[in-house]
Amino acid sequence: MTAMPSAQHYVRLSGEEFRSRLREALDIYVEAMRYPPGTAEQRAPMWLTHVLREGWRSVAALDDEGRLVGIAYGYRGKPGQWWHEQVRRGVVEREGEQTAATWLDDYFELTEIHVRPGAQGRGTGEDLLRMLLDGVPDSRVLLSTPEGDSRAWKLYRRVGFDDVLRQYRFTGDPRPFAVLGRALPLE
Ligand SMILES: CC(C)(COP(=O)(O)OP(=O)(O)OC[C@H]1O[C@@H](n2cnc3c(N)ncnc32)[C@H](O)[C@@H]1OP(=O)(O)O)[C@@H](O)C(=O)NCCC(=O)NCCS
Repeated sequence: MTAMPSAQHYVRLSGEEFRSRLREALDIYVEAMRYPPGTAEQRAPMWLTHVLREGWRSVAALDDEGRLVGIAYGYRGKPGQWWHEQVRRGVVEREGEQTAATWLDDYFELTEIHVRPGAQGRGTGEDLLRMLLDGVPDSRVLLSTPEGDSRAWKLYRRVGFDDVLRQYRFTGDPRPFAVLGRALPLE
């Protein structure tokens, strides 16, 4: 793994800025998640659609030459969105309607958070997460992450995310996922 310069500063991205950095952001995503190269082309239209959703916001970590080192974004979750319906199905099946309503009535979906592998482990992920969630008006934040021992897990536990669903299978993905959540604002 190539060592990367640490993030020098953080910026909020407008939709336009996000679009212009889409390629760079997808490169980080593919590298950080160790997905096959074609994944970027597949995901691009979806990431662009997300920009148009209510409550969408994004933060970026940049190095001293202005290159992207990390990216995070999310938006307000709502009925009818694929992820919302998948999570709702799981929570209703396992915990019932009441619990589903508690988690899913007013939440921000943390959709993506990725740091270039060579720049991980220096606090950039936590900085991105805190900046992204700062000022979010929703009362909870939810995310999904593959089950397993990872930096992502350590980060989410460290900032107080609890289990909403464990060992959950999203339609079309054979991997088990966890859905995690916590109340907002963060301390
Ligand atoms: C998850 C991810 C975004 C976290 O980003 P990160 O920059 O590595 O996270 P942080 O640096 O904030 O925290 C990770 C480690 O840095 C340590 N750390 C935090 N601040 C630090 C600092 N100032 N100096 C040194 N180390 C620090 C933490 O203790 C933690 O150590 P550990 O993982 O050994 O326990 C990143 O690891 C990543 O992109 N992973 C692959 C993609 C992924 O899984 N994305 C999430 C999918 S749901």
